[in-house]
Parts: sequence; C-alpha cells; structure tokens
Amino acid sequence: NTMLSWQRTAYHFQPEKNWMNDPNGPMFYKGWYHFFYQYNPNGAVWGDIVWGHAVSKDLIHWLHLPLAMVADEWYDINGVWTGSATLLPDGQVIMLYTGSTNESVQVQNLAYPANLSDPLLINWVKYSRNPVLLPPPGIDFKDFRDPTTAWYTSDGRWHIAIGSKVNTTGITLVYHTKDFKSFELLNGVLHAVTATGMWECVDFYPVSKNGEQGLDTSVNGAEVKHVFKTSLDIDKHDYYALGTYEKANGTWVPDDPKIGIGIRYDYGIFYASKTFYDVHKGRRVLWGWIGESDSENADVQKGWASVQSIPRTVLLDKKTGTNLLQWPVEEVDSLRLSSKEFDKVEVRPGSVVPLDVETATQLDIVAEFELDKEALERTNQTNVESISCSTSGGAAGRAALGPFGLLVLADDSLFEYTPVYFYVAKGADGNLKTFFCVDQSRSSEASDVNKQVYGSSVPVLKDEKLSVRLLVDHSIVESFAQGGRTCITSRVYPTKAIYGATRLFLFNNATEAALTCSLKIWQMNSAFIRPFHPDQDT
Ligand code: FRU
Repeated sequence: NTMLSWQRTAYHFQPEKNWMNDPNGPMFYKGWYHFFYQYNPNGAVWGDIVWGHAVSKDLIHWLHLPLAMVADEWYDINGVWTGSATLLPDGQVIMLYTGSTNESVQVQNLAYPANLSDPLLINWVKYSRNPVLLPPPGIDFKDFRDPTTAWYTSDGRWHIAIGSKVNTTGITLVYHTKDFKSFELLNGVLHAVTATGMWECVDFYPVSKNGEQGLDTSVNGAEVKHVFKTSLDIDKHDYYALGTYEKANGTWVPDDPKIGIGIRYDYGIFYASKTFYDVHKGRRVLWGWIGESDSENADVQKGWASVQSIPRTVLLDKKTGTNLLQWPVEEVDSLRLSSKEFDKVEVRPGSVVPLDVETATQLDIVAEFELDKEALERTNQTNVESISCSTSGGAAGRAALGPFGLLVLADDSLFEYTPVYFYVAKGADGNLKTFFCVDQSRSSEASDVNKQVYGSSVPVLKDEKLSVRLLVDHSIVESFAQGGRTCITSRVYPTKAIYGATRLFLFNNATEAALTCSLKIWQMNSAFIRPFHPDQDT
C-alpha cells in the first residue's frame, strides 16, 4: 500500500514492515553495533512477539539479520519479551530476557550466542535449564519482567534489576548471581514509588560527575552518580532520577528526596528505553521506542508501526547537576548534505518568516534565539506559575514573550504545520521561566491522529542563549533544547506538507518582544537500512 508511504522515515531505524516496540540487548561486539527489538513478524499491531536483530558499523546505517529468537519453548511460547545484554570480562555474552510462558507467567530466561567468533552473532542458544527466574512470592505472575544489564560489585557477584509492582506501588527487585544460572533475591528493593503501577524496562547506570566519557555499567565510586529509570505502564512515559548507589547496603538514594518518580527523558513519545555502554567510543548510548500516534487502522494500512529514536549519548549536565543531557550520536552528522545558514533573522511580534530551504522533509536544524533585550526588561507578567505548554493555548496563545520558534513540516499556505517553540514568562519578581513545547494541533488535516501539545519547562542559565536542535524525518521530529536538557519527540502525519510541498518557517507570536534567530540547516541523506546479503556485506 503506497497510500501513506510518505510517512515512512528515511533515517530512523525501522524493520522493513510490521510492528516493532522496545529496544532489546543493545551492545557493541567485535566491530558491530547490535540492536535487537520487540517485533511482530505477522502484522502491524502488537502480538506474537519475537526478537528482531540488526547490525551497524555506525548506529545509523543498518543491516537486518534473521530473527535472533522466536517463541519456541514452553517458557517463551507466549512471547520473547524485553531483555538486556551483559558483556563479561572473559568475552562471554549474556542475554537475559523475559518469556511469557504457556500459562502467561512472566519468567526470566538466559540465552547466549551459539558462536562467539561470529561478529554478527546470528545464532542464539537458549539455556537448556530455562527459566532461570520465576516470580518470587508476593509478586503477581504478570508483574515480573524486563531484566537489566548486569553490574558487578565488590562482593564478587553480578547484580540485575527487574521491574514489578506490589498493589499499586512500582518497585524494582535486585538479584545477584555468579553464573547467570542461579540467582538470589536481595532483601529490600532498589527503589519503590507509590501509585506508579507496574514498572517496565527499568534501567540503572552510572554517569560521571566530572568527565565527558560514558561509564561502563559496573563503575561506582565518589566520582559518579547513578541514574535510575523506569517506564510507567500507566502513562507510557519514561522517568529518570539521579542518585547515589550505596555499595554497602545496595540501595539507591535519590539526590532529591522529593523527586518522586523523576523527570521525563522526553516530553513527547519515547518509551521502554534502554542504555548501553559503547566500549568502542567510550560513551553511554540511549535507545527509545517511538510508537505511532495515528490510529491502529492507519498502521495496518501502512503495514508498519513504530521507529526507534536516533540513538542519544547521555551525560550528566554539569552546569545544573540536576538533569541529564541527551544528544543525537555524532554519527548522525554523516548524513548531512548541503547546508544553508541564516544569520540573525529578525522576527517581529506576530509574524511568520519563511526559510528558503527547498524541500523540508529530511532536515537537521540548529537554531539560536535572542529576544529583544529591551522588551525583556520592560515586561512583567502575572500568574507565571500557572503557565505551561499545555495550558497556555499552544503556539497560537499569545503572551508578552512568547511563543516563538519554528514551524516544521508545514505547507506553503499553512494549512498544516507543527510548531516547535519556546515560551518565556517573566514574573513580577523579575525571574524568567522558559518552556519548550511542540504543538501538534495543526500538524495534520487527518482526524485520527494525536493533536496534543507536548512540553515542559527547560532550565536556562544566566547568559545562555535559547538553543534548539531538530531532526526532521517525514513523520518524526526529535527536538533537543539547551543542549539536550529537555527533549520532545513527536510523530506527525501531514497530508499536504509532504515531499516537495514541505516548508519551514520561523514564527513569533509574542506580543511584546521581537527576536532574532540564527540557524544552520542541513538537508539530510537517507540511511541504508536493508537486509543483509552475505556475499556483498562481508
Ligand atoms: C514494554 C513492554 C515490556 C515487555 C514488552 C512486551 O513496552 O510491555 O514490559 O517486556 O513490552 O513486548
């Protein structure tokens, strides 16, 4: 069916067809990045889940390999669900994953490569004595899934975390093991938060307090913080918090005791994410599943559903100390083709300025905004506390100092457009508060698509300019504000702003402040994402 084919992305990872969800077992092994994913080989909706597999030299161009694991044992016959890889110091590769059994019990299983000298790791063996873990007493048989990558501690054992819940409290169980075959449940939980429901796809990893390097999962000490992340089944969002992993008693203590479930990795669509330590480049890389926000019916027509985010490097934000910085891996820059630069374009209050970039379906945009200083001084607003992306009328709701930003995936006559924008508020106390938002309400003439306004406040430090990076790819816009402090991923489905009819604009809906914007915009090449051919690819 070619009817909706313009929605197909050109440089985001996707299987050739059908349904995909969570990223699984990412790793770098013998020269290749490996990516596994939850996959339905039989259709464009969730079900019949097995593990898809692809490899890449650069996290951007991918070769699809045969399915890594299918549902062929009693302990995973109802689904080969999410799992993680651990690379052991002696060269072994451990894959732990959740199986849904013949009785729909969630159990943890061990698998390993059939042939460690095959860099493509094509064949996988399931351990003969699976499952290695059953739901422990007190845990419902459907609330026990998604084992993490293991980390090693000074007690000489490997530790893994598994998400669960007790009543409506989300919890994380920790097990330790020497051989990944027999495990012992530790007392207490790594973390628990009331009223958050089932915790899926928990992730737990160190970030450096000082360095720009990523850290291997077992690193701990005075120079690191530990990130705890969980995916909430109740709202389908990923939340993280920074804290300290206490070696002595194996607990994790959040920096901010009031943080609750934490802050969002991304304020749009981004779920079931997972990081891995990239031994090749010494960085920590985050993958997130980006679902569709059109109807299931449209997915069936298209014959596919979901993409993965461009992998993001993750670092602690040393300037604020209270959030992570996420940024597209540097390899995505290799897709940049011709570029255009715009220096200090003036955008008056209430105006829209076209940016001449020809077609605008595949773009990488870097932009910096400066609000008119005098207007900024002069203006004071009331009720600044009640302002937010979703309560302030989207990109059309006007106030003194915003909203302003870019209109992406727009058509010439502005029937369809998606504003990615800042919104600055200045209270009577003189303090500025900045929001970063995406408004999908005018993104499509179709009626069966999500038209929410996404976003959140973004920390802006003294003397910092407002900056944004956007990756536009047909039906996805990934947006990173202030170097990746606040991220918003949005799926949009224009019907007019497609192919050669797609345009890009600047807009300023502030009533008081003019602004200037400097931009660099690249046309983006498509990535090669195709089946592996043994004769031509080795
Ligand atoms: C998250 C999730 C996981 C589960 C998998 C099944 O999206 O529900 O908890 O392992 O997907 O496909």
